[in-house]
Amino acid sequence: MIISLVVAASTNNAIGKDNKLLWHLPNDLRFFKNITWAMPVAMGRKSFESIDSKPLNGRLNIIITRNKDFKAAGAIVVHNLKDAIFVAQENDYKELIILGGGEIYKEAMPKADRIYITRVHTVFTDADTFFPEIDTHKWVRTSNQDFPADDKHAYPYSFEVWQKR
Ligand SMILES: NC(=O)c1ccc[n+]([C@@H]2O[C@H](COP(=O)([O-])OP(=O)(O)OC[C@H]3O[C@@H](n4cnc5c(N)ncnc54)[C@H](OP(=O)(O)O)[C@@H]3O)[C@@H](O)[C@H]2O)c1
Repeated sequence: MIISLVVAASTNNAIGKDNKLLWHLPNDLRFFKNITWAMPVAMGRKSFESIDSKPLNGRLNIIITRNKDFKAAGAIVVHNLKDAIFVAQENDYKELIILGGGEIYKEAMPKADRIYITRVHTVFTDADTFFPEIDTHKWVRTSNQDFPADDKHAYPYSFEVWQKR
């Protein structure tokens, strides 16, 4: 089973502030849905709360928390990343998708095989959560599609796929 990270990050790797996203990009939401649909998706407890603790439909939701009493209706709760991987493997999936946030990406990056990143071409200095820097000695970009800003997208953005070397 391969492990993929899915993220939208600005040029300076900003991904969130006050437990919210920094932008609204409808095309990215569509891209996100396409990649994650019918897949197991794992996320940290804070990211889960940032989506109002509502599991994403059509996907096996795995929530990671250290809190042994944590309950999440419609989702599987685990207490470390290893168990999230185990749950996806046990359910015979070929890919586990890690949805963040910052803490979970940092821990999962060394174990990941692929990164789907929507690069949002702007600098957010006023963020409080960041994606780890992609080390080009370890990762190679295998695809890239660029899109300009338009009336629905405040910033230009690119859909990039990176594979571990
Ligand atoms: N732009 C994007 O693509 C994107 C994607 C996802 C999230 N975000 C943003 O990222 C922010 C949230 O990220 P975050 O870093 O604050 O939080 P997070 O990574 O979503 O969740 C952190 C929580 O996960 C649990 N956790 C982390 N490591 C663990 C481990 N090794 N074992 C067990 N549990 C562990 C802990 O939960 P407990 O405290 O309950 O123990 C921890 O507090 C929000 O602003 C969100 O909007 C952005």
